Amino acid sequence: MAEDFTVTPWEVTGDIDYELLAERFGTSPIDDKLLSRLKGYGDLHMMLRRGIFYSHRDLNVILDEYDKGNKFILYTGRGPSGHTHLGHIMPWMFNKWVQDKFDVDMYFQFTDDEKFLFKQDATLQDTKKMAYENALDMIALGFDTKRTKIILDTENVKTMYPIALKVAKKINLSTAKAVFGFDNTTNIGSIFYTSMQSVPAFLASELAGRNIPCLIPCGIDQDPHFRACRDVAPGLGYMKPGQIYCKMFPGLSGADKMSSSDPMATIYTTDNQKEVKKKVGKAFTGGCVSVEEQREKGGNPEVCAIFKYNYYLFENDDGKLNELSKKCRSGEILCGECKAALTERINVFLEKHQEKREKAKDVIHDMTFEGFRW
Ligand code: TRP
Repeated sequence: MAEDFTVTPWEVTGDIDYELLAERFGTSPIDDKLLSRLKGYGDLHMMLRRGIFYSHRDLNVILDEYDKGNKFILYTGRGPSGHTHLGHIMPWMFNKWVQDKFDVDMYFQFTDDEKFLFKQDATLQDTKKMAYENALDMIALGFDTKRTKIILDTENVKTMYPIALKVAKKINLSTAKAVFGFDNTTNIGSIFYTSMQSVPAFLASELAGRNIPCLIPCGIDQDPHFRACRDVAPGLGYMKPGQIYCKMFPGLSGADKMSSSDPMATIYTTDNQKEVKKKVGKAFTGGCVSVEEQREKGGNPEVCAIFKYNYYLFENDDGKLNELSKKCRSGEILCGECKAALTERINVFLEKHQEKREKAKDVIHDMTFEGFRW
């Protein structure tokens, strides 16, 4: 039997079979028909072409509404537990593309409450500070400063609380246990938390006094929250939010998910050039031990972390990506060369990103929901 895997909002382990995961969760594949529908709005994002965003709920319904002139609100978020790494910004880049393509407003939720509740040693000061740091990265990606609102749960709670209460009243403990795996040792704040993550899906509708569709692009690990959110929506008179889900961004160690628990296999947006070089240098490639052997047998891009980074983020051009794969398999290009090229790419990206991140400090206060100050 193949090794099993676990994917929940709090834990991702094992060798993930993404098709099986979508089946277990009950999400639908983004098939060719849906891809060609999406293509009708212009080009297809690389992450759609490559099946990185690969599964969804009700995307067709959201697009039907859009076609009728009923624009959706875009919603995604981040639990501010530490500095931002490449695995976080991957789906954010996709969100930015959706915002531009469909010309829509957006809510970006920072769940400082969530990370306070779920992380043993976190203080509310820590999680709020991290939300600020993470928000700089989000802004640096170029989200429309007028159309994007930053929600910070502990600051915006006054407006959010009545909606969260309505959601909470519709979810009972046995559902929460079944969906999230809670037990008798779980603190009661954690049990309530999912209702806070539902709020931005309904917020625009609540404020407008009519139903505004909501589309949530994010990692598929968040599906348990949105399953609960969708289940309660009709009973509260809201439209169910639609989701478009991506796979987890891999770690440099070859693991299925980049994780802060392994800092050497994780590239943070705040890393300097030397750190990037060192981390990429140590990455898992699956290449052969000797140059001779590799020239003869070639490498295997399917298991190589370096290749995956090009695939997920750093090589936009499908032709060039294919060529790289061929050169690797034939032994024409060696791991050292690939590592050097990727290091260069990441560093060029980070240098620009870090500049934009600094500039974000000038606009971050203008982007907060209901004008809260950090
Ligand atoms: N729970 C998410 C996390 O731990 C944070 C989050 C809140 C989120 N709202 C979201 C993620 C909407 C994706 C989409 O990171």
